[in-house]
Amino acid sequence: MGSQDKALRERAAKVIPGGMYGHQATGLLPDDYPQFFAKAEGAHLWDTDGRRYLDFMCAYGPNLFGYANPEIDAAYVRQLSIGDAMTGPSPKMVELAEVFVGMIGHADWAMFCKNGTDATSMAMMAARAQTGRKTIVLAKGAYHGAAPWCTPRPAGTTKEDKANQVYCSYNDIESLEAAVAKAGDDLAAIFAAPFRHDAFIDQALPDPAYAKRARELCDQHGALLVVDDVRAGLRMARDCSWSLTGVEPDLSTWGKCIANGHPISALLGSDRARKGAAAIYATGSFWFAGAAMAAGLETLRLVRETVYLERIVSLGEKLRTGLAHRAAKAGFGFRQSGPAQMPLFLFDDDPDLRKGFCWSSAMLERGVYVHPWHNMFLCAAMTEADIDFALDAAEASFGVLEREAGGLAPVEKMAFLRG
Ligand SMILES: Cc1ncc(COP(=O)(O)O)c(C=O)c1O
Repeated sequence: MGSQDKALRERAAKVIPGGMYGHQATGLLPDDYPQFFAKAEGAHLWDTDGRRYLDFMCAYGPNLFGYANPEIDAAYVRQLSIGDAMTGPSPKMVELAEVFVGMIGHADWAMFCKNGTDATSMAMMAARAQTGRKTIVLAKGAYHGAAPWCTPRPAGTTKEDKANQVYCSYNDIESLEAAVAKAGDDLAAIFAAPFRHDAFIDQALPDPAYAKRARELCDQHGALLVVDDVRAGLRMARDCSWSLTGVEPDLSTWGKCIANGHPISALLGSDRARKGAAAIYATGSFWFAGAAMAAGLETLRLVRETVYLERIVSLGEKLRTGLAHRAAKAGFGFRQSGPAQMPLFLFDDDPDLRKGFCWSSAMLERGVYVHPWHNMFLCAAMTEADIDFALDAAEASFGVLEREAGGLAPVEKMAFLRG
């Protein structure tokens, strides 16, 4: 741990509960991972001790076109000087809704908010308002945000917050059918992640038969299908991610990268869900601010006009092939799951992640920020040279692991994974 980071942690412990909270807290990362960052540009970030990293987390998704992308940030700053948070929205809101709806096949309308959790909570409310029913079917272990109805941690919530929810297993048609049967005539919606991107386990692409069955079940029961594209949106397709399975949802939720890191999220819907969406009370002091909308418009322009998607896929594939080769050479079972542009790495026979922690720390030391148990993200600011750099670091890091593997201490803080 660097001295500046250590000093900041000590100060934070006094004035921030737990020293840090939420998904960016480093409590479940190797001890040498920095908690605080000083600067970010393109595909890189710098910690407060001046160390530079090639960043495969991309702010947990928001960085799609590079940190501080000049075109997107110029649009943001321009609108900031014209009007940001005002007594009502700027014309940019209508323009952004028109443009977004024009790009997403299933969408006839858009509503904007700030975080992914706002969008998923609104999706749930809109589905209930539209159908007049309560029950939501969700996949066990899928993350849909931090509100009481969806938080993975029970502290501060009541059992009632998660009432009217029935769980299935992702990609398991039988369990989906059973959950829908359990919901009976009270089924308001099926929520689906675009692919299984749960933490700690291998990712899984969606089985198109599962997606189609979810659509059929919603149609048969008069319920709405929601795809939560907050994390994967625009990294799988220039449309809703489930367009790749040939299935169109009624509602889709977006956030993270839609304005390349500027704060805005969205709920998109078809006419089948319009009345419910119009009925719910949905608002926030900063939801209608213009600058993030201007940044969103510029981001969506780059989505339409550049080969960013083909680029992150091809860089991801180069990384995947190179890592597979190096891991095999070093004799490690190294699993890379999910789409190449959103990879997750896990080692075989590594129940408390001691190998993953050792390898990830060695990568960090060599200037590459990888995550030992969460999916990662590629961005369009990465280059072939960056991937070569990461592969060189990986080769050396597999070497470190080879030398140390026999004597690695248990990772006590990850012991819960063994259970
Ligand atoms: C699939 C998914 N849905 C919803 C959310 C919540 O988004 P936010 O953290 O912006 O509230 C996330 C965040 O990681 C997510 O990955």
